[in-house]
Amino acid sequence: MAAKWLKDAVFYEIYPQSFYDTNGDGIGDINGIIEKLDYVKSLGCNALWINPCYDSPFKDAGYDVRDYKKVAPRYGTNEDLCRLFEAAHQKGIKVLLDLVPGHTSEEHPWFLASQKSEKNEYTDRYIWTDFSFKGAAGFPYVGGESERSGCYVLNFFKCQPALNYGFREVREPWQKGMDDPAAVATREAMKDVMRFWLSKGCDGFRVDMASSLVKNDDEKKSATSAIWKDARRMLNLEFPDAALVAEWSDPPLALRAGYDCDFILNHAHGGYSTLMRDYYNHVAHCNPDSTAEDHSYFKKDAGGNINLFLDQYMNWYEDTKDLGYISPITCNHDTVRPAFNLDERECKLAYAFIFTLPGVPFLYYGDEIGMRYLDLPTKEGGYFRTGSRTPMQWDDTENLGFSKAGAEKLYLPVDPAKDAPTVASQEKREDSLLNTVRSILSLRHAEEDLQADAAFVPVCTEPEKPFVYQRGKLLCALNTTGSALEVTLQEPQNGSVIYKIGDGKLSNGMLKLEAQSFVVIRRD
Ligand code: GLC
Ligand code: CA
Repeated sequence: MAAKWLKDAVFYEIYPQSFYDTNGDGIGDINGIIEKLDYVKSLGCNALWINPCYDSPFKDAGYDVRDYKKVAPRYGTNEDLCRLFEAAHQKGIKVLLDLVPGHTSEEHPWFLASQKSEKNEYTDRYIWTDFSFKGAAGFPYVGGESERSGCYVLNFFKCQPALNYGFREVREPWQKGMDDPAAVATREAMKDVMRFWLSKGCDGFRVDMASSLVKNDDEKKSATSAIWKDARRMLNLEFPDAALVAEWSDPPLALRAGYDCDFILNHAHGGYSTLMRDYYNHVAHCNPDSTAEDHSYFKKDAGGNINLFLDQYMNWYEDTKDLGYISPITCNHDTVRPAFNLDERECKLAYAFIFTLPGVPFLYYGDEIGMRYLDLPTKEGGYFRTGSRTPMQWDDTENLGFSKAGAEKLYLPVDPAKDAPTVASQEKREDSLLNTVRSILSLRHAEEDLQADAAFVPVCTEPEKPFVYQRGKLLCALNTTGSALEVTLQEPQNGSVIYKIGDGKLSNGMLKLEAQSFVVIRRD
């Protein structure tokens, strides 16, 4: 069963290098996160997910871990991170770190030892063929880089050799089974990393590429799932309140593998992509393209259809609602920001939906003020993702309040636009995106029916009508079009609007919603 605190959790994802720089080196730091905890709290977020903040050569922005147990000096020290856990807990905020179990950096000491020709403890910590001229057919691999004769398998970029959790089906002499001592040792090493941070006060992990561990796995990922069930058993015994959030995007599999939550990610042709980033479904690559066709549901009059989302979501939801939580996101560090193609009103409606879904929602830093996607050259393996990773925009001081370093020293440039949104400017405007996020999240915390567990039941999903859904005893309705819409309801016949963006009302069974509006109604 999922940790209890998740029932009313709303996460804020922080990309540490871009959040707040306190020592003027141009890079965000742990102390910066500590200083901004009150801000996080003011949003209505009561949990953080921090992207990898460990020692790393940063060829994939820290997803290439060189030391799982050491905070990267550019972010601070282990002591700083422990102080963050403490300070956050004092404010009622939980902290998840990012666990990268599938691979390390090519500079991790385990890998350096594994490359040696002499046998040692780490020889089989990674996946190697038995001869430098024999490639790992069917897998991405590198040959010719080590003293040891053999090619090694990669998990993602070239800098990220795959850790060896074994093969479900052993098809080559160099492939080891899942129960081979080397595979078991990898599993135990990752549990050791988890224990290390949990015992220092961290509240759990967002798990990178959670489905990638065991190779030659079956379609149901049963071998990889067995690894996670084993980790979950350890957590239940030793850290029962710890939460595990999967980067898997297949809730039926992830939640059965022992995860508390699984993200729905912006995969092309997945239901989630049709909400805000339908342009993704009309290009052959991931690069954002503002000229591409775009029928996103939240884009005004773009011909979107909520059923494209619901078809997949409802299957997942019905199947998993008793097992754990689906985590809808505004965005993440791998995804193009909502403001790329949605204006402020459209973002408000999109977030209202995301934050009134069941499960455990995630807000990506800066989305609350509608930070833009910037067209930038790649940084630390970001490529198209770089544009969603720029410094947080706090106010109208130097570097928009992110850092006191010279502009040329910044990790990434801040949004140069004259009207770049900032926290300070949006705090002043009552109907800003920022204040809308705050009001929706405060409603969510006040109404158990809007939190993780209350039932979600679509009531009207017909085109040309408002999209109406029930959460517990509350009724939510959305109109993303530019014209007023109405629908006749069997029940309730009457109710009062307890929250609105735009306007709407229910009287005598007639639910009327003005253009681009959202309402939450309590039955009378
Ligand atoms: C995940 C991360 C991404 C990273 C990749 C490899 O998808 O979110 O940023 O590049 O895994 O670790
Ligand atoms: Ca810094």
